[in-house]
This record gives sequence, C-alpha cells and structure tokens, in this order.
Amino acid sequence: MFNLKVDEDLQLDLLKEHRAEIFFALLDRNREYLEIWVPWVSRIKSSAKAGELIKSWERQYARNDGLVAGIWFKGELAGIINLNYVHWQNRCTNIGYWLGEPYQGRGIVTKSCRALINYAFQEKELHRIEIDPPAANLKSCAVAERLGFSKEGILRKKWLVQGEYVDGVLYSLLAEDREK
Ligand SMILES: CC(C)(COP(=O)(O)OP(=O)(O)OC[C@H]1O[C@@H](n2cnc3c(N)ncnc32)[C@H](O)[C@@H]1OP(=O)(O)O)[C@@H](O)C(=O)NCCC(=O)NCCS
Repeated sequence: MFNLKVDEDLQLDLLKEHRAEIFFALLDRNREYLEIWVPWVSRIKSSAKAGELIKSWERQYARNDGLVAGIWFKGELAGIINLNYVHWQNRCTNIGYWLGEPYQGRGIVTKSCRALINYAFQEKELHRIEIDPPAANLKSCAVAERLGFSKEGILRKKWLVQGEYVDGVLYSLLAEDREK
C-alpha cells in the first residue's frame, strides 16, 4: 500500500474510504479558495460523496493507473497529491495537488512532489512526469519551476476556470534530467 515518509513532519498515505469525514472536513473548510482551481470540489457536498470519490480513487490504485494520497503534516490532513494516471506504454504520468489554505507557504507540496517523483522514477521506473497547471495559477506553476521541471509550452485554453477557458502550461521532468 502506498505510503511515503517525506520527513519528520510530513507523510503521504494512500487516501482510504475510512478517511472520508476528515477529507470532507478539510475540503469543506477550504471550499471557496479551492473551487477557483479545483472545480470538482463543488460537486462534493457531503462526506458520503467524499467517500464515493475516495472509493473510485482506490479502484484507480488497484488498476495500477495512478494514486491519490493524503498529505499529512504534523498528524493533520493538509491536502492531497496525486498521480492522475500512468501511461504504461510510454511510462509517463501527471502530478496534481492541493493544500488547505493555512498549509500554504511552508514547502509542503514541493517536498511532497519531490518524494512522489522519486517514487515514480525509482520504484515505478517511469520515464516522464508532467505538471500542467493553468498559466494564471502562479503558485502551482512556481511548484513545477521550483522542482526543476522544464516549461515545454502553452496548452491553449485547456482549463475551464470559473466559467472561462484559460491556457495551461505544460511542464515536464524526465528521469534522465536528474542525471545531468
Ligand atoms: C498550488 C498550491 C499547492 C501551492 O502551495 P504552496 O504553499 O505555494 O506550495 P509549497 O507547499 O510547495 O510551498 C512553497 C512556498 O513555501 C515556501 N517554503 C518554505 N519552506 C520551503 C521549503 N523547505 N521548500 C520549498 N518551499 C518552501 C516557498 O518559498 C513558497 O512560498 P512563496 O509562495 O511565498 O514563495 C496551493 O496554493 C493550493 O493548493 N492552491 C489551491 C489549489 C490549486 O491551485 N491546486 C493546483 C491546481 S493546478
């Protein structure tokens, strides 16, 4: 079962259905701030719905097609991080993440991504990892840049953000980039 200790304060743990209430509580407390960039949050209106979503993520993990892990900071659920899918033919994946608002500004996501990237390259022997945030999501773009991802280009009007299609930015990191 996926579980990574990042450092003394930080742990990534596959999100399981029995965590539905605590996951829903975090999402619900941060709803307004999250909905801007994570639109599916608006569909999760109860812990039962959160449980159904987590079950679908558990099935995704069982299919070996990615994972969604809780980010636990000092014993509290601070956010989630995910491998959105794994394209096994090309050994490629895509990372997503969000944090509750009060947990921002401490390097939690950058450190969590670093640990997940090591796992993806070393344990899963993947070749390429993408991050593709909306260009206007400067904090999310900053995570990819801080991690040394290369900016490949603009994804024209990829994301529907608050009723409007906006550009995304495609960032990538290759396993071989880390050997340079
Ligand atoms: C995107 C998001 C995860 C970024 O959060 P974040 O806190 O900026 O990212 P990190 O956890 O990596 O922290 C980086 C910040 O901590 C600071 N920091 C402190 N200690 C640090 C450390 N050891 N390592 C790295 N950064 C550190 C950095 O300087 C940076 O602060 P700054 O923005 O003032 O420069 C967060 O804003 C979020 O969840 N937003 C809503 C949902 C969302 O947009 N999700 C992404 C969709 S594409």
